[in-house]
Amino acid sequence: MRGQQRELSFRFMAQPGDVNFGGKVHGGAVMRWIDQTGYAAAVAWSGAYCVTAAVSSIQFLQPIRIGDLVSVQAKLIHTGHSSMQFAVDVLARDLRQGQSRLTTSCVMVFVAVDAEAEHPIEVPKWTPTEPDDLKLAAYAERLSEISRSMEKPLREDHPGIVER
Ligand SMILES: CC(C)(COP(=O)(O)OP(=O)(O)OC[C@H]1O[C@@H](n2cnc3c(N)ncnc32)[C@H](O)[C@@H]1OP(=O)(O)O)[C@@H](O)C(=O)NCCC(=O)NCCS
Repeated sequence: MRGQQRELSFRFMAQPGDVNFGGKVHGGAVMRWIDQTGYAAAVAWSGAYCVTAAVSSIQFLQPIRIGDLVSVQAKLIHTGHSSMQFAVDVLARDLRQGQSRLTTSCVMVFVAVDAEAEHPIEVPKWTPTEPDDLKLAAYAERLSEISRSMEKPLREDHPGIVER
């Protein structure tokens, strides 16, 4: 039900088809998992079709090996009028050992859109109350401000790169 599910995760094994030239999981495969999990979380929260508007702060911290148990976890950390920001973490575990390790993290912005008219539509509001959630929401707002402030001069100076 819309506005109820704040967190959503996918779990699966890293497959031989996900491999890069170095024998580890390809960065593109990790980004696809992140996008799929974030999308599912955004649709579950908004109850609407959503599009990816931005991905920021992505960090590849450790490699993932083929055969690792992968867990991709998306958590809502901010809502605007039509936008939602999710912190997405990718954890991997060698099944021969007990510990999961954080391999990748990022913040994604999704926008709920009317599937036919394709214009942004309102999403259920999430109001943080816990201290950790207040910090995450403030971080999300700050990230958004930084991203916008960097985007504008980049467009002005390098229209060929970021032309719209
Ligand atoms: C994302 C998109 C719907 C925004 O449409 P728009 O006409 O620019 O709409 P608005 O300017 O009203 O912005 C809508 C919301 O998106 C947010 N937004 C748009 N671009 C953003 C960006 N780069 N970073 C962060 N937020 C962004 C706005 O802040 C606004 O949030 P709010 O409603 O919570 O205040 C439109 O740019 C789009 O369709 N982009 C392509 C998406 C896509 O193809 N993704 C990949 C495949 S899913």
